[in-house]
Amino acid sequence: MFAFDIDTGDKRSLYRDLLQAAEALVVDEPDAIANMANVAALLWEYLPALNWAGFYRAKPEGLVLGPFQGKAACIRIPYGKGVCGTAAQTLAVQCIADVHAFPGHIACDAASASELVVPVVRHGRLVAVIDLDSPTPGRFDAEDVAGCSLLAERIAVHIDEG
Ligand code: SME
Repeated sequence: MFAFDIDTGDKRSLYRDLLQAAEALVVDEPDAIANMANVAALLWEYLPALNWAGFYRAKPEGLVLGPFQGKAACIRIPYGKGVCGTAAQTLAVQCIADVHAFPGHIACDAASASELVVPVVRHGRLVAVIDLDSPTPGRFDAEDVAGCSLLAERIAVHIDEG
């Protein structure tokens, strides 16, 4: 059993502790799927107001569903499609306050109102994207973007299946 000391008092402490916990989980484990599964579990347990948290893996043919928590989701997303496909194609974080206003948004769960998608890049090559969905409009802010971007940077080497 893993026990983590996560300070959920404010976002700064939350992301600091989440990052530490994620690194502790993945550092000695070479299996990418196991590492994505544990990071998805951490995000799901400690980030409030989410209805989906997980990974899409970057394959030559497009994004393919990876380890996640939440409702069953669309399995394959072409590059350039939806929020995830846009993040994957542009390698730019997508912080979307209102997914219904995003052209081409793919509704896996009708409850989703806002979304944060962070590309995981290793040596300039896309490995996966982290996808967080929330039923709360405007759930994600600059601190979430910064926290998840740092997380993506740190775990990239540990979730690279290539
Ligand atoms: N809404 C995403 C699809 C993935 S699900 O949210 C899990 C999108 O538009 O890319």
